[in-house]
Amino acid sequence: MTSAKPQPMKTPEQKLAGGEHFSLDEREALYRIINARRDMRHFLPGTTVDEAVLHRLLLAAHSAPSVGLMQPWRFMRIGDATLRASIAALVDEERNLTAQALGERDTEFMRLKVEGIRECAELLVVALAPDDGTLFGRRTMPEEMALCSAACAIQNLWLAARAENLGMGWVSLFDPVRLAKLLNCPPGAKTIALLCLGPVAEFYPRPMLEQLNWRQGKPLTVMQDGWCESC
Ligand SMILES: Cc1cc2nc3c(=O)[nH]c(=O)nc-3n(C[C@H](O)[C@H](O)[C@H](O)COP(=O)(O)O)c2cc1C
Repeated sequence: MTSAKPQPMKTPEQKLAGGEHFSLDEREALYRIINARRDMRHFLPGTTVDEAVLHRLLLAAHSAPSVGLMQPWRFMRIGDATLRASIAALVDEERNLTAQALGERDTEFMRLKVEGIRECAELLVVALAPDDGTLFGRRTMPEEMALCSAACAIQNLWLAARAENLGMGWVSLFDPVRLAKLLNCPPGAKTIALLCLGPVAEFYPRPMLEQLNWRQGKPLTVMQDGWCESC
């Protein structure tokens, strides 16, 4: 008769078959990074991002989920000073148009810092590649699902940057067609984000728009079994 040896209990920190298992400390670190991430507009001028760090960040972005494994994101690194100035001018133009469109809050809006393009160490542009026809998961919402996939990549980059103690700001104040033209994007490609990245003096403790009383964030709500405004 063989008696089965009692197996020692697995602690939660032990590795699970088929994937890494994370410790309590690691879990806490992830939530701390999520909570400490901020959209940054103030950067330390004259700084750089280490090449190896930038590569890690872009790999983190490229590891994002995507619909049908489409990976529709394309990253462009802006190194040319003249090109950066042209992009900054494009953003200035859109900032003014946004202020006009806002009406009575125009002056208040113009007081906000809404980008750090001229000062940030690295300027990246994210574009959607021309549609490759991926159908899996995209039959009913092709544009949205490509866009959501690219947003997942940007969020990965954002969190990884925070973990590296680098600030990142997402700037969407631009005419996407003119930006695409400036960057020689092929027909069908769509620019969706300017990402300002680099060292910062300090991170805002709360969203800057809250700190400056532009708008307050809402608490989490979860509706049960369907849409319910009063729940
Ligand atoms: C898709 C997207 C576009 C954004 N565009 C801008 C922008 O053009 N300028 C800006 O100052 N902030 C921009 N933001 C940052 C938001 O204002 C910011 O995320 C929000 O106020 C919450 O602050 P937090 O990211 O620090 O939590 C953008 C954020 C997202 C997700």
